[in-house]
Amino acid sequence: MKLDRAINIDDLRAMAKARLPRMVFDYIDGGADDEVTLKHSVSRFDDYQLTGRTLRDVSKIDCSTTIMGQKTRLPFFISPTASTRLFHPAKGELAMAGAAHEKKVIYACSTLASQTLEDIAEANPGSKWVQLYVWNDKEIVKTFLKRARAAGFTGCILTVDMPVAGNRERDPRNHFAVPPTPNLKIARQVLARPGWLWDLVRSPKITPANFTHLRGGNAGETGGVIGFVNEQFSRSVTWDDVRWMRDAWEGGFAIKGISRAEDAKNAIEIGADAVWVSNHGGRQLDSSVPVIDLLPEIADAVRGRADIIADGGVRRGSHVAKLLMRGATGVALGRASLFGLGAGGQPGVERALSIIEDELRRTMALLGATSIGELEPELMRVPKF
Ligand SMILES: Cc1cc2nc3c(=O)[nH]c(=O)nc-3n(C[C@H](O)[C@H](O)[C@H](O)COP(=O)(O)O)c2cc1C
Repeated sequence: MKLDRAINIDDLRAMAKARLPRMVFDYIDGGADDEVTLKHSVSRFDDYQLTGRTLRDVSKIDCSTTIMGQKTRLPFFISPTASTRLFHPAKGELAMAGAAHEKKVIYACSTLASQTLEDIAEANPGSKWVQLYVWNDKEIVKTFLKRARAAGFTGCILTVDMPVAGNRERDPRNHFAVPPTPNLKIARQVLARPGWLWDLVRSPKITPANFTHLRGGNAGETGGVIGFVNEQFSRSVTWDDVRWMRDAWEGGFAIKGISRAEDAKNAIEIGADAVWVSNHGGRQLDSSVPVIDLLPEIADAVRGRADIIADGGVRRGSHVAKLLMRGATGVALGRASLFGLGAGGQPGVERALSIIEDELRRTMALLGATSIGELEPELMRVPKF
């Protein structure tokens, strides 16, 4: 299927579904428990209605902005996603990072990336951030951050909404594991996608590539990447314990996974430059509130002392505009870029980014807004709560 036949992100999703084994597609596509948050995060955008200003000169639209100190051509960027080689075994994160560089957007790399920081930096000499989970061992984090800094990553994101992994029921049902281990239970779904399988068998094993020296880092001896996570990540950490992470990093620092005003204040108190409002794309706490509904109360708590990043359910350029109108400084894309990757590697991610950019520019023109600053809240009607 040719990528330029993908007219929107849903088309890329359909192409990814046709190319990936069911367990891999569902790992991207699925959410926690009854997937209520997953569904609402996308559908809630429809309840916010736009009222555009007409007869304005919209011949030039400037989408540039600054997010967490990083000047950027577009107000959206690629969100961190773990084990990205699952969705494209040959390149994974390199394809994502390369596409971000090509389209001049920020790339955020997961702690659990399946490519090394140094290789990712080579694929993307442009703007890039690195994401952390809360580890048991401070020294591992310090070494990781030092490597990230040396490789040219300028921002750090601490994800705090995963004290335990969410209950994603599609995964056990599909016998999903990282790395995928060939066995009879998954044979049918994998053999049905020979292109992906061929890529997988020709590529190195999928591991948390930046930690292969640690116990479990080779993703074999302790139950794959999930076993590694259970062994290395801490469940008992509190706000007081994460202060040192901010101090260990010289650049911009964001706390990702905030959904309450009091936690936004805590993030600012420990010195965060950005509060990242997220429910992890509906993969963690089900029935959590769609991010677009939360933004004004977070903005009230932040009072301009930090940037606000938002993600969750963004499948359209108009969704980006709506989040910005509700108070976000920048918007992160999770599945939208992953569907592009699954559909067609780096060109697929580039296609996803182009689709969202074109839609955002068109939405702004129709709203009569020629810059991000002109995306004013009064251009949108907010549903009653
Ligand atoms: C397959 C997958 C893997 C993810 N891995 C991570 C991760 O390693 N670290 C992290 O902070 N967030 C991770 N996320 C969450 C995304 O960064 C982002 O918050 C979420 O996908 C946004 O929702 P959306 O996919 O609807 O855009 C992951 C999401 C998906 C779909």
